[in-house]
Amino acid sequence: DWTMQKFLEEAVAQIRHTVGEKGQVLAAVSGGVDSTVAAKLMKEAIGSRFWAVLVNNGLMRLNECEQVQKDLSEALGINLTVVDASKEFLDGLKGIEDPEKKRKFIAAAHDPTKAGKIEFFMQGTLYPDVIESLSFKGPSATIKTHHNVGGLPERMMNGQGLKLIEPLRSLYKDEVRELGRALEIREELVMRHPFPGPGIAVRILGEVTPEKVEIARQADHIFISEIRKAGLYNQISQAYAAVDPSRAVGVMGDKRVYGYIVVLRAVTTTDFMTAEAFNFPWDFLQRVMNRIVNEVHGVCRVVYDVTSKPPGTIELE
Ligand code: XMP
Repeated sequence: DWTMQKFLEEAVAQIRHTVGEKGQVLAAVSGGVDSTVAAKLMKEAIGSRFWAVLVNNGLMRLNECEQVQKDLSEALGINLTVVDASKEFLDGLKGIEDPEKKRKFIAAAHDPTKAGKIEFFMQGTLYPDVIESLSFKGPSATIKTHHNVGGLPERMMNGQGLKLIEPLRSLYKDEVRELGRALEIREELVMRHPFPGPGIAVRILGEVTPEKVEIARQADHIFISEIRKAGLYNQISQAYAAVDPSRAVGVMGDKRVYGYIVVLRAVTTTDFMTAEAFNFPWDFLQRVMNRIVNEVHGVCRVVYDVTSKPPGTIELE
C-alpha cells in the first residue's frame, strides 16, 4: 500500500529526528497490535537504541508471556526485557473487589519508567485514544479508568524528565494494522483482538485470586481456540471468557457440585463505543460449553452474554 509505505518512511525520519544520533527510547509493550507495531517501527528507526519492557503482571492469557517474548524478540528482533511481577500484582490484588480500585492498583504498579536512565518514553497511543482521553478529563465524564491511554500520568513523567513519543497518534486501528503489514509483521499478530491493560483482572468479577485467574485463562483458551478453528476469529472484534465467582449448583457424575459460572462474551464493533453480541451457531456454543465444563476444573455452568453496548460495556467490569 503506497500511502502506508509513505507514512512509514516519514514516521521513521521523524523518530530519527526527534531522538537524535544517541538517544535511547523505552516503551512498555503488551504484545497487542498497537504496542507491537509501534515497537517494530521504533526498531526500524533506531535499532537497538530502542528498549521494550514487557511486565508480566500475572494477568495475561494462557502462555501469552512466552508467546509475546518469541514474537517480539525472536521474530521481530526487538530488544526486549521481560520483568516477572506476577507475584507482586497478585499479592497486591488480594482483597480488592471494587473494579475501579483494581484498575488503579494495576496502573500504579505498572510504572515502566522505573527501568533506568533513558531520555524518551514511547507509547502506542492511537487517534481514538487521544480523543477519548480528552473527553475523560472531568471525573463525571470518566466512564472507566483506562490505564494505557492518553500518556503516562504526569507523576511518572516528571520525576524522570522523560519526553513522550507517540508515533501512532494520528492513526486509526485499521491504519495501524496496515502499518503493521507494511512493517512485515505476521498477519496473526496484526489481526489480534484488543486486550485490556488490566488483563484478566477485569474479567473476574470481584476479588482476583490465582485460582480464578487460572479458570479464566483455561476457559478463555478453549473459547478462543474454538473460534479460530471455526474460522470466526477475524469476524469478531473481541472475545473472551470471564469468571463469575457466584457458585451455581450442578450435577457431575452422580454428585451434586457447586462451581463457578463462566461467562462467554464476543462482540462485533467498528469503534468500540457501541457493540453487538456475535451471533454464534448454536452447536458452536454447545461445543465450547462441553469442553469448558469437562476440561476446566471448578466450573459447572457456561453462559453466553448477549448484551449489546450500550447498555453493557465490552468488558464485564
Ligand atoms: P468497554 O469495556 O469500556 O471497553 O466497553 C472498550 C474497549 O476498551 C478496552 N478496555 C480497556 N483497555 N485498559 C485498557 O487498556 C482498561 O482499563 C480497559 N477497559 C476496557 C476493552 O477491552 C475494549 O476493547
